[in-house]
Order: sequence, then C-alpha cells, then structure tokens
Amino acid sequence: MGATDDDQAADEAGVPAGAAAPGGPQEGEPPARPGRASGPRDEAEALAALAALEREISAEKKTATAAAAQKKAASEAAADARPGAAASPEVAGPAPAAPTASAAGTERAGTERAGKAEAQAAATPAARATGGKAAAPAAAPHPYIVEFDKVTKTYGDFTAIRDVTFKIEDVPNRGEMVSILGPSGCGKSTVIRLIAGLAPQFPATRGTVLCAGEPVRGPGPDRGMVFQDYTSFDNRSVLDNVAFGLECRGVGRRERHDRARHWIQKVGLSVKSDADKLPHELSGGMRQRVAIARTLILEPRVILMDEPFGALDPPTRTRMQDNLVALWREQSPTVFFITHSVEEAVYLGDTIFIFSGSPGTILKEVRTPPPTKPSLEMQRDPEFRDMVFEIRALIEKLESSSRAGD
Ligand SMILES: Nc1ncnc2c1ncn2[C@@H]1O[C@H](COP(=O)(O)OP(=O)(O)O)[C@@H](O)[C@H]1O
Ligand SMILES: [Mg+2]
Repeated sequence: MGATDDDQAADEAGVPAGAAAPGGPQEGEPPARPGRASGPRDEAEALAALAALEREISAEKKTATAAAAQKKAASEAAADARPGAAASPEVAGPAPAAPTASAAGTERAGTERAGKAEAQAAATPAARATGGKAAAPAAAPHPYIVEFDKVTKTYGDFTAIRDVTFKIEDVPNRGEMVSILGPSGCGKSTVIRLIAGLAPQFPATRGTVLCAGEPVRGPGPDRGMVFQDYTSFDNRSVLDNVAFGLECRGVGRRERHDRARHWIQKVGLSVKSDADKLPHELSGGMRQRVAIARTLILEPRVILMDEPFGALDPPTRTRMQDNLVALWREQSPTVFFITHSVEEAVYLGDTIFIFSGSPGTILKEVRTPPPTKPSLEMQRDPEFRDMVFEIRALIEKLESSSRAGD
C-alpha cells in the first residue's frame, strides 16, 4: 500500500472517462453499472464525485421542499379563497427532480479537474506517507496535521469566513478529535471543505491551509469526508459502495470485497443481510454507516465529518457516536466533526471550536476530556452535564458579545 498505490492512482489519472475501473477487467469483472457518479478514476475524483453527489442530493431535497412549500401555499390560498371549504388533504409532494444529464456532465467535468489536481497532490511526501495502513503519525515530519493561517473565503462581496487561524497537533498514535460548533451559515462546512480541497469552497480567497505541512492543492487520499446527506452511489450495492475507494486505488476485486466485508461489520452492519442491498433499501443510520465505512476503509489521516449524525433519531445517534469513538481509537485519525449538538461536541472531545456568526471566525477553543464510556452513560454524569451547561453559557455569552461588536 502507500506510495505504490498512490503512484498507481496518479498514473491512472489519464485513463479515459468511462473506462473500466482499475483492478477489475483483468479479473473478468463486469463493467460498472450505469448510474450517477459511477467510476471515478482515483480517490480525488471519488471524493469530488461524492461531494457532487452530496450537492445533488441537497439540491433535490431543496427542490422537493420548495415544491412542497409552494403546493402548501397554493392549497392554503385555495382554502382562503373558499371560506368554509375544508383544505384538500395534503398529498405526497412531487418526486425530487432527477438529475439532468447536463448537470451530471458538469459535475463529471469538475471531477476530472479535481483528478488532475490530485495527481499533483499524490506526488507530495505527505500524501505518499498516508496512502495505506502504514500511515503512522510517527512518520510525519511535521508537528501539525492541519494549519489554518488567517484564512478568509469570500463569494463576491460576501465574506463567509474571516481570518480563521488554528493549528492541530499531529500527536503520534493518537489523532485529535475536533468538534466545530457554530450557528447555521457561519462557515463550518466552508472550513472543512477547504481542508478537503473541495470546490467551490476551495481554494481560500486569502490565507493558507496546510495539511501535514503541505499546502492543500485539492482532494487527496490523506483526507476522507463523510457528508451530511448519506452520500452513496445509488446504483452500487453496500459492498461496492464500501469498496469504492479501494477500487479507485486499483485493489483487486477479491481483496477489496474482503476488506469491505470487514468494514461493513466494523461499522455495525450485517455482512449477511446488508452487503448486497442497494442504498435505498437502508435506513438513514445504516446509510451513514456505509458512508463511514467507505471513508475509514481507506485509513485517511484526516476525517472530515459534516453534521454526519444531524438527521438521526437520538438512540441511533448515540450508537453512532459510540461506534465512531471505537473506530477512532483504533485508527487514530484526526477528526473534524461539525455538529449543532453541544452534548455531541463535549462527548467526542478533545477540542471544540466555537465559531461566531457570519462571517465565521473562531471565538473560542475549549478543551474537553476524552470519552471514557458510552455516550448515553457519559451524558448522565454530573461533570458531563456541568460541562455542557458551561459551554452553552459560554456560547450565549460569546454570541451576545460578538453581536454587540465587542
Ligand atoms: N458557493 C457559494 N456561493 C455563495 N455563497 C456561499 C457558497 N457556499 C456557501 N456560501 C455561503 O457562505 C456561508 C457559509 O456557508 P457554510 O460554510 O455552508 O455554513 P455552515 O456550514 O456553517 O452552515 C453561508 O452564508 C452560505 O450561504
Ligand atoms: Mg454546513
């Protein structure tokens, strides 16, 4: 693994779009089934394709929500126009708009550009050192795994984040868990997408973003992302979704499937009953487990999680937190975890960045103790509750003073 695979991925960046994925044809593998976003050629493309998929899913959701709101408004208006008449019962909203061919084409063009950027990024020592299991933090020559120095991102006249500055130490055999708390729209996703190297948040307008001492040049195998929207390739089975990154790395079918089965089980899914399912046959929690397995199987040094558990019911959420902590302990990556839950941020530890409202900047960095027991148990501890209370009070105080322009 490591340098060899990265070299291979970089070499294969020139394979024409639509060609069979590396590792497959020699083994008599059938070509990838058609469908959205299947068959990126390396991990950078894979990540960019997932990001595109995430945007597509979000856009579909927004379209569906907007259509439902429009329909509701129309039916309310109709009811108002007929005083005394009962409003017609709400029928299911229209199906989400299917992605158009031209939109898919645009995304693919984007992933191709990202793929080229990655070929460059894979050539860096930091990326090479992190291609596989041998990604021991001890090998890192740089004391910090992620550094932001006065990072500002603007879109036209609008400033999304301003002068964001922090350093996360690269502690050998123990990655840092960094939670990011802040109001909606303050730039939390912008920050972690800048680390991932994902457009349009990447590149920063001003300032520097370093990963293991190297400027981020685009997506890379040293950084894995778990999106909020349960991103999965809907035409691939759970097994092939989890094995996806290995396929992009050129790992043969048998090995990648063996490793994918191992990870399916590690994230709490059943190999027997879930591996052959398609994503639409799974619950939200199960789909997010697939996304986590797909990211962790590649053993990235940095894992970027954008409100991954935000839409889950509380019991599923605490189980997912426990699972994440167990996997994090085993693999020791540095994790950036965006959440709106103070409890979740305190539970996961080690550091919480509290962001101001837009334009986002770090108002405070708080250290919290590491999780020593399962989430539900820990949340019953008086010390834990005190800490949550203190952080809530701190956020309130920071927000009111930043609103007052202090
Ligand atoms: N591509 C874009 N173009 C214009 N504005 C954007 C773009 N992406 C994000 N923004 C804006 O930047 C701000 C920060 O966005 P984001 O990082 O997604 O916030 P958060 O994740 O904290 O909710 C928001 O006001 C958002 O509307
Ligand atoms: Mg966000």
